Order: sequence, then structure tokens, then C-alpha cells
Amino acid sequence: MKTPVEVIEIKKRGGNIAQRDLKDFLAGYMQGSVADYQMSAFLMAACIRGLSEEEVVVITRCIKESGNCRPKENFGKPVVDKHSTGGVGDKPTIVLLPLLASMGVLVPTLAGRGLGHTGGTVDKLEALPGIKQQYHWNEAQKLLEKNGAAFLTQSDDIARLDKRLYALRDVTGTVDSIGLITSSILGKKLSEELDGLVLDVKYGSGAFMTTYEDAKSLAELLVKISTLMGTVAKVLLTDMNEPLGEWAGNGVEVMEAVRMLRGETVEPRFYEVTISLAEAMYQLAFPGDCKNVREKLVAKLQSGEAYEKFLAIITAQGVESETLGKLDGILAPPKLAGVLRADRTGYVSKVNAHALGTLLIKMGAGRKVLSDKIDHKPGLRFLKKRGDKVEKGEALLEAYASKELELPQISEIYTITDEEVKLPPYINRLEKS
Ligand code: URA
Repeated sequence: MKTPVEVIEIKKRGGNIAQRDLKDFLAGYMQGSVADYQMSAFLMAACIRGLSEEEVVVITRCIKESGNCRPKENFGKPVVDKHSTGGVGDKPTIVLLPLLASMGVLVPTLAGRGLGHTGGTVDKLEALPGIKQQYHWNEAQKLLEKNGAAFLTQSDDIARLDKRLYALRDVTGTVDSIGLITSSILGKKLSEELDGLVLDVKYGSGAFMTTYEDAKSLAELLVKISTLMGTVAKVLLTDMNEPLGEWAGNGVEVMEAVRMLRGETVEPRFYEVTISLAEAMYQLAFPGDCKNVREKLVAKLQSGEAYEKFLAIITAQGVESETLGKLDGILAPPKLAGVLRADRTGYVSKVNAHALGTLLIKMGAGRKVLSDKIDHKPGLRFLKKRGDKVEKGEALLEAYASKELELPQISEIYTITDEEVKLPPYINRLEKS
């Protein structure tokens, strides 16, 4: 059996760790014989040197087996979930859960907290006072039976290893590894005992994979390992070269998702990405019923059924019924603390979404160290998007915060050019998935 230092050394030199040694190393971490600092060193070596497919499969299995799997009672429904590889303003999950549940799909979503410069569904939903998302599977099954969906996360019973690795990667700069992302996502998702999984693999300045090619490699590995482990996966590759939607933060993103659930008009790309993911989930759930899927989904949003389902889900998860009528106030941002204005006339051609995610962390919306508590209030509002024409002095972004705030220079975030900007398609499909 290799010592922790020997395992780290193998990865540091770019070698492959034998299955047995990697399993022992991960088990040692759970039992306390491998320390956080040793795991951090391993994660950094894995980020820099990469992981072989065999190593990814071992880590995925260890994450899945570090907790229990969902009992195989599906209440007569197809079981489908979605997971995103992470981005800024990435809130579709909050809409998809109730929307698909209102269509008769069982959606046992295991989501995560903020990771690196990106926000996490679990942190966002904690803007709702009283909400509980850590459950054992036997309790989660009761929620699923009642409402058809539950907002869940890693717990003592579910993907325990990912709970610890995820938190460590968040604060050690060790997120952007194709192998670590794949094992983290699939280790969780495969414990849900799904009939199908939709993956939203993001590329661009706000994603962990900044190039389309790297995102495609991540997507291919996700599909390969998911299929190998028995779950059908479908991928949408979506653009994360700017934050998704009008808002980024925690409470403000829940507010934006609530607006979509209420059938209100929301930022078109957020709407389109969300509806496209919903269509893909529905098609996996009901492969024999592929006609007018979009119309059916839109009808659930416009009739208020999806929103009613959202309220039922959060109430079952601990949000007091008196809170439901006050959601707009609870989720509203604090005061306007700063505005970024165009320094010239032209077209917005580039947005540094990574820098915006980092700004949100500085505003308290994410963690700098493991013990940081999230502030659910602050948020950024994007008034102009890529491709928009702007006049010198026009507001591009508003920052809402309860504390003093130093905004970055405009040139650190926006590039404005004279030429009109033609944007490539922002939703792409992976052939063969
Ligand atoms: N989502 C996850 O669950 N894990 C990752 O590593 C990245 C995104």
C-alpha cells in the first residue's frame, strides 16, 4: 500500500495511480489518515497533470459509494436530472426542477455550493429562510413522493466524499480539471439512480473550460463515463462568455428564476437555455412523446403550475408558508452601490465573466476560505449584453451591496469595439449524445 506522499508524488510526475492505491488514498481521506493539505496537493497535481480515464472511473465510483444510492422506488415516473459544469448567473436548475416535476418527471436533483468563481444552486436557494437541502435518501424519497422533485445536496448519506472534495476544490484553485469535474458530477448524479441525465457543459470566460474544444472534451468524457456506468446522458454545450441572464448573485438569481416560473418575461438567453434543457430532459423522460414539447413546457409556466410546484417544493423543504407571500422582498437586492459605464460608444464585444464571478466573491456572495459564510443579498445586474450597441457614459452594469464597494476598471470587464458584433450560436449539441 502506498503512503499518501507516494500517491501525490506519482501524480506530481504525471504517472497513473494504481486502482487499489487511489481507492485507499480516497478512503484514507474519509477516515482521517490523509489530511486536507495532502488532498489539496493531490488535487493540484491532478489539475496540472490530468487524470487517466481509469482514475476518473475510480474517483467517480468512490464518490458514489461514499454514500448511499437513492432507493429504486420511482413512484411510477421516469427519473431524469440535469447538471451544469458551472458558470456565472447559472440558475436554470431552479426553474427546471419544478417545471419538469409539473410534467410528471421525478427530479431528485443533487446540486452543489459555489465553486471557484461560479455560484452554486445550494447557496442561492439558502437565500430562502428555513430551506433545508441536506437529507438522507430515505427522507428525500418522501419529498420526491409528495412533490416529484427535491432540491438536494451532498450529505452524510449522499456522496460524502464529494461534499469534502468539492469544498476543498472551491478554495484551493483546483476546480478546472476535466477529470475532477467529471468524477464530481457523475459521482453525485449516478447515486440518484436516474433513467437519464442532461448535462449543460459550459464554455467561455465564465466557465471552467474557457475554450469550446476543452468543453467538448469534458462533454465527451462525461458521456463516455456516464454510459459506461449505465446512465444515458445527453449534452448541450452552452456559451458562458458572459453571465447568464440579467442578474448574478444568490437571492437575486432565485428572484430571476421565480420570475420565469411565474411566466414573466426574462432575459432571452436565460429563457432559451432553460427551455432547451427542459426539452432535453423531457425527451429523455418520455422518448415516445416528442411532439410540441416546448409548447407543453411554456403552458406550465404560463398557467402558474410550475410556480405552484416550486412553492410546494420549498415549503416541504422547510420554508414557512408565511414567507411565500414575501418572496419578492426577501430576494430583493440591497442598495445600489456602484455602476459601470461605457467609456466609449460602440458595441459590447467581450465580457470577462470570470472577473465578474470574482467580484461577487469579494462582495461576499462566495467563499474565499472554507469557513466563510455567504451573504445572500449582494448582486450584479447586467444592463447590456454582448452584441448590444452602447453610447459613451451609458450604464452597463449595476452592483447592489450593503457595504462600500470598489468596482473594477471598465476595461477589466468589458471590451467595446467600433465594429458590430456577430455572435455565434450559444447552444450547441454534442453529436452522438
Ligand atoms: N459541478 C460539480 O458538481 N462539480 C464540479 O466539479 C463542477 C461542477
